[in-house]
Amino acid sequence: MNSSRQDTLTPLYVISITFAIGVTIALILNIYLRESPVFVTGVLVSDHERCTALGQRVLSDHGSSVDAAIAAALCLGVVHPHVSGVGGGGIMMVHDIQKKETRVINFQGTAPKTLTQEMLHNLSEPKAGLQVGVPGMLRGLHRAHRLYGSLSWEDVVSRAAAVAREGFSVSFSLSEAISKVKGEPLSPLFRDLFIPGGQSLHSGSFLRMPGLARVLEAGLSNVYDGNLSQEMVDMVRVNGGVLSREDISNYSVEVEGPVEGLCNDFIIQVPAPPSAATALLLAINILKGFHLNNNTANQTYHWITETMKAALAVGSGLGDPNYNTSVTELLTHMLSTRQADVLRQRIEHTRASLHGWYNSTAHSLQTELHAGQVVVMGSDDLLVSVASSLSRLFGSRLITQSGILLNSLILDFSWPNKATGQQMNQRNGIQPGKRPLTSLMPIIVVPVWDECGIYTALSSSGGLQSLSAITQVLIIALSQDQEKNYTFPPAGLRPQFQPIEVLVDQRRIQDLHEKSHIFHRAKWNSDVQGILRSKDFIKAIAIPPLPDLS
Ligand SMILES: *[C@@H]1O[C@H](CO)[C@@H](O)[C@H](O)[C@H]1NC(C)=O
Ligand SMILES: *[C@@H]1O[C@H](CO)[C@@H](O)[C@H](O)[C@H]1NC(C)=O
Ligand SMILES: *[C@@H]1O[C@H](CO)[C@@H](O)[C@H](O)[C@H]1NC(C)=O
Ligand SMILES: *[C@@H]1O[C@H](CO)[C@@H](O)[C@H](O)[C@H]1NC(C)=O
Ligand SMILES: *[C@@H]1O[C@H](CO)[C@@H](O)[C@H](O)[C@H]1NC(C)=O
Ligand SMILES: *[C@@H]1O[C@H](CO)[C@@H](O)[C@H](O)[C@H]1NC(C)=O
Ligand SMILES: *[C@@H]1O[C@H](CO)[C@@H](O)[C@H](O)[C@H]1NC(C)=O
Ligand SMILES: *[C@@H]1O[C@H](CO)[C@@H](O)[C@H](O)[C@H]1NC(C)=O
Repeated sequence: MNSSRQDTLTPLYVISITFAIGVTIALILNIYLRESPVFVTGVLVSDHERCTALGQRVLSDHGSSVDAAIAAALCLGVVHPHVSGVGGGGIMMVHDIQKKETRVINFQGTAPKTLTQEMLHNLSEPKAGLQVGVPGMLRGLHRAHRLYGSLSWEDVVSRAAAVAREGFSVSFSLSEAISKVKGEPLSPLFRDLFIPGGQSLHSGSFLRMPGLARVLEAGLSNVYDGNLSQEMVDMVRVNGGVLSREDISNYSVEVEGPVEGLCNDFIIQVPAPPSAATALLLAINILKGFHLNNNTANQTYHWITETMKAALAVGSGLGDPNYNTSVTELLTHMLSTRQADVLRQRIEHTRASLHGWYNSTAHSLQTELHAGQVVVMGSDDLLVSVASSLSRLFGSRLITQSGILLNSLILDFSWPNKATGQQMNQRNGIQPGKRPLTSLMPIIVVPVWDECGIYTALSSSGGLQSLSAITQVLIIALSQDQEKNYTFPPAGLRPQFQPIEVLVDQRRIQDLHEKSHIFHRAKWNSDVQGILRSKDFIKAIAIPPLPDLS
């Protein structure tokens, strides 16, 4: 299923990224040689070449790194409307090297005020309207712009709007997403746009979204307080939902510090819950106790796989700390050295663990989440990583007259559900205004001591599998630095570690167990993007869809 995706996409990635690196290394050398700084811009990576180019253009027009990230993220919402957009939300991390300060701008959507858990009881597939949470995308990006923008908001937004108005060529990823959902009951608006005349848009066909261009240009107040807000509410209500205009106008963005973990001479910074990213810190804490460098590859894979299972088992019990104080307690426990030691001791060196071995409650974490990713390091010494999402492919599948696809983030909450038989995560239950546990995880790594050391910013597009992919990339990045060996896997090539798959889905854990866990093909392949910067170089990191090993 995914092999054709690789065949089609990988060469493009390799070409564009390699080009970007070649150009940028030259540019960065310029910074340190203090030559012609006019040409110094920085590096931006994203899921789509058009958005990468758009973001790079913002950088070369003297926009800040955050301006570039905003333009590229909005652009992704246009060319990959199945993944993210105005009707969704996301999380942005920004690190300021000079101030040594990191901010997490959380604009994940929230539950509407009148949505109750009872409305979803025993439902596996709630009505489309009930799946929709309050969208946070534009408010979030706007807040980021107020904090770090240098071009005008209108300038930044209009660049993404231009892509929607002029049109773009449908990517393989979008065409594949359309064919996946086309058998479902879909609204005439959805069909007119993506399946015109009964034919799914195929890769390479041309698509324009002038309505979406107008949405982007209409301004924030129209989306949050004006006609567009009404349009979204009407669409949700007609489809059985409870979203109100007041929910939308009350939406607020959260800006906070990161949660930090230490590894070698690096500080790993991740968003606090309700992002599940703190499970990464637990994984790193466990792995620190193994000697990964002087062991066989087999042994290393085994340890990583078991570690990810343990970290996910604990991480899947998290939720929004603003609504349940036990989340903070769990987090403190989870990040303690003691907990890492206990879990490490539970890992058997020769055998894959059984389900439940790490006290896994196997809470139903969404395994279907798709994220759009943008990572930027400009010449302003800001590092930016932003992940944005509608949750599932095309979110709730509801699309407004103007072309806003509405998210399905309510599905990321946990509720009593006889159909799945999974134990409910009480910390992630539905409450008005609450944000669900999410696998969106932008990550920043900064050196502890040396300001001239290595900085890394990463993001990942796959749901939970992101975590194991990111862990592997970090292990390579961090341990190689320790050995003063900067040979990073070239962009577009796989890391030396083979892929592993760790799903919390019980069935798959069973599979893994039966085979004493050899490596399986994931339902969705992980895809990590990032940028690495030292005083001498700056490199794009791209791990393309992992190979099929089944
Ligand atoms: C959910 O299903 C269980 C068992 O089928 C039933 O006892 C319960 O009343 C249902 N709850 C709701 C709210 O429908
Ligand atoms: C909002 O809708 C009203 C009535 O449909 C219309 O008259 C008005 O021009 C619209 N405002 C904007 C900003 O689109
Ligand atoms: C919106 O905020 C106001 C003031 O804080 C509050 O009274 C109201 O209940 C909120 N409404 C919703 C739907 O959240
Ligand atoms: C790996 O290195 C550590 C410390 O350098 C050592 O204690 C351990 O025995 C080594 N393991 C193997 C398998 O060589
Ligand atoms: C490593 O993997 C190979 C192939 O899967 C297997 O035959 C071998 O026994 C493994 N070695 C160890 C030490 O686990
Ligand atoms: C698993 O849970 C039991 C009971 O809550 C506890 O005693 C035990 O220490 C836990 N084990 C791990 C590895 O966390
Ligand atoms: C908070 O989480 C705890 C532990 O899972 C749970 O027992 C409790 O019911 C939750 N509280 C609320 C208000 O959901
Ligand atoms: C870096 O590591 C690789 C793989 O371990 C090794 O082949 C290479 O020689 C090392 N390079 C340097 C400069 O140490």
